[in-house]
Amino acid sequence: MAKQKTWQVCCLLGAGLLCAVALICLCIASFVNKGCSSGTFQHAAVSADSQRCSEIGRNMLQQGGSAVDGAIAALLCTAVVNPQSMGLGGGSIFTIRDKAGKVKVYSSRETVPQSFKANLLNDCPTKLALTTGSQWIGVPGELRGYEKVHKQYGKLPWPKLFEPTIKLAREGFPMPQYLGGLLSNDMIQKLVKGSSLRDLFCHKNKTVLSNGDILKFPKLAETMETIAAHGADALYTGKIGHDLIQDIKAAGGTLEMEDLHSFRVQVEDAWTVPLGNTLLHIPQPPAGGAMLAFILSLMKGFSLSPNSLHGDQKIQTYQRYIEAAKFANGQRGSIRDPVFNKGKSAAHLVDSDFVDRIREKISTNRTHDDSYYNVTPSTDRVGTTHVSVLDKDGLAVSVTSTINQIFGSGIYSPKTGIILNNELVDFCGRADTVSAGEQPPSSMTPAILESMSGGILVIGGSGGSMITTAVALSIINRLWLGMNLTDAIAAPVVFVDAKNNLNFEKGFDTSVIDGLKALGHRKGEWPYFFNVVSAVEKEHGCITAVSDNRKMGQAAGY
Ligand SMILES: *[C@@H]1O[C@H](CO)[C@@H](O)[C@H](O)[C@H]1NC(C)=O
Ligand SMILES: *[C@@H]1O[C@H](CO)[C@@H](O)[C@H](O)[C@H]1NC(C)=O
Ligand SMILES: *[C@@H]1O[C@H](CO)[C@@H](O)[C@H](O)[C@H]1NC(C)=O
Repeated sequence: MAKQKTWQVCCLLGAGLLCAVALICLCIASFVNKGCSSGTFQHAAVSADSQRCSEIGRNMLQQGGSAVDGAIAALLCTAVVNPQSMGLGGGSIFTIRDKAGKVKVYSSRETVPQSFKANLLNDCPTKLALTTGSQWIGVPGELRGYEKVHKQYGKLPWPKLFEPTIKLAREGFPMPQYLGGLLSNDMIQKLVKGSSLRDLFCHKNKTVLSNGDILKFPKLAETMETIAAHGADALYTGKIGHDLIQDIKAAGGTLEMEDLHSFRVQVEDAWTVPLGNTLLHIPQPPAGGAMLAFILSLMKGFSLSPNSLHGDQKIQTYQRYIEAAKFANGQRGSIRDPVFNKGKSAAHLVDSDFVDRIREKISTNRTHDDSYYNVTPSTDRVGTTHVSVLDKDGLAVSVTSTINQIFGSGIYSPKTGIILNNELVDFCGRADTVSAGEQPPSSMTPAILESMSGGILVIGGSGGSMITTAVALSIINRLWLGMNLTDAIAAPVVFVDAKNNLNFEKGFDTSVIDGLKALGHRKGEWPYFFNVVSAVEKEHGCITAVSDNRKMGQAAGY
């Protein structure tokens, strides 16, 4: 009896020990399997321009959603957390790479309505300014875009994607710090107080909301609830559309129900451009992908390495970048909607012969007059958001979305809760005429890069004219100059504006600034560095996600 007890105890102890050993083994095994350092993710990640929206996107992925589900949920959230940047009244461009490696672009960028103001381009601003007014409203395609990509790649039910944002919009949430900062700016206060936006962003006593106040979007919550239940048709053929058109007309706009009815999402294969051991996938014109590819292809030929940032080589590296950006400015006119501009094509910008020819014209010891780069004066703009997502099955989504400038046209539709875009301003300085149905040219460039070794970088940015700068420099820093993704995005930029003046972000190396001035460059007075990049990268099985500190963003993953 006693012996049997001892035997049982031994057994138990033995089993316990075995269990412990097994557990330790499991731990080691999973550790070795993961091998991902802290701060990186094993399965999937979302990088939106706010922590709240990155997390909402991540939660969708954890509930079995695809990268497209995560991206849509994060965008819907961004429409309330950064309502100045994007929303249902705007448009977007998705670049999507599927598991098999096929890359497609879904563009729901706004179009010119059938009827539009005569001599519209006479109203173009001549300097950097918020350009408000109903004449600039393009047909909003945002929601048709979500519908299309969700049908193709979605795994969660459509209504589920709206749930967290409806709750936020209805119950309210503390004023996001970034938006609170914008709303304290004089120019923006003037816009908000002087327009229907005051319904959303002012107290009853007409003072503008600030940090510490609660932000609510009750009408938008209702609209989203209807769209969640009845689909995009509620906006494009149904009552929400009729209400929206009524509000636009009341504000003097020309959009008709027929414009909403006839809106179609454009689906095309992405353009793919080789950059050494890396393939760059970009959206075709009128998106800004060709500009990004042009600059990166020029820079690829200079065989950059981490040494290119050492000593005087750093001046040389930026000199080359700036010259490349000046040639890119000279090409701004070639980015037009190909359907409406038969003679114009941006295809040469991704043609290696043309790129090689231009690279030979880049001087290392001087700069040139604007005519050398074929630059005609135009204006710059600010705005937009970007979301990058990579899911556990390898679906990659890079989406840039916008209502164009801060608060778009400055017109809020009280019946629907939707803020309307001023996308038609994008023709200014880049076109002499516009056609009904045409998409305005854009700087937006949601990109996906893949390396021969299987690495993926999903990246894009916001900041209007600064998008190309922000994305190009981040990619150059990451790919060739030896920076990790965080540093690549955080590094101060030099923005070559539409007049070919150099504008240096705070913190830019002053010895390089002096070196560049000595080469003859002009300095500009660009006041706003709204350049913001969101990226997700997978390398050796581990995922890094970075959302730009400039907009106080934070990525999320698991
Ligand atoms: C306006 O109303 C808000 C909220 O009730 C209050 O905090 C603020 O002090 C008021 N401002 C003025 C100028 O009355
Ligand atoms: C710049 O370099 C070119 C080619 O090396 C040379 O011919 C030219 O004199 C140099 N110009 C200046 C201003 O140093
Ligand atoms: C990125 O690199 C910098 C400089 O080498 C380093 O200080 C930082 O910790 C790195 N960040 C990450 C997330 O690895």
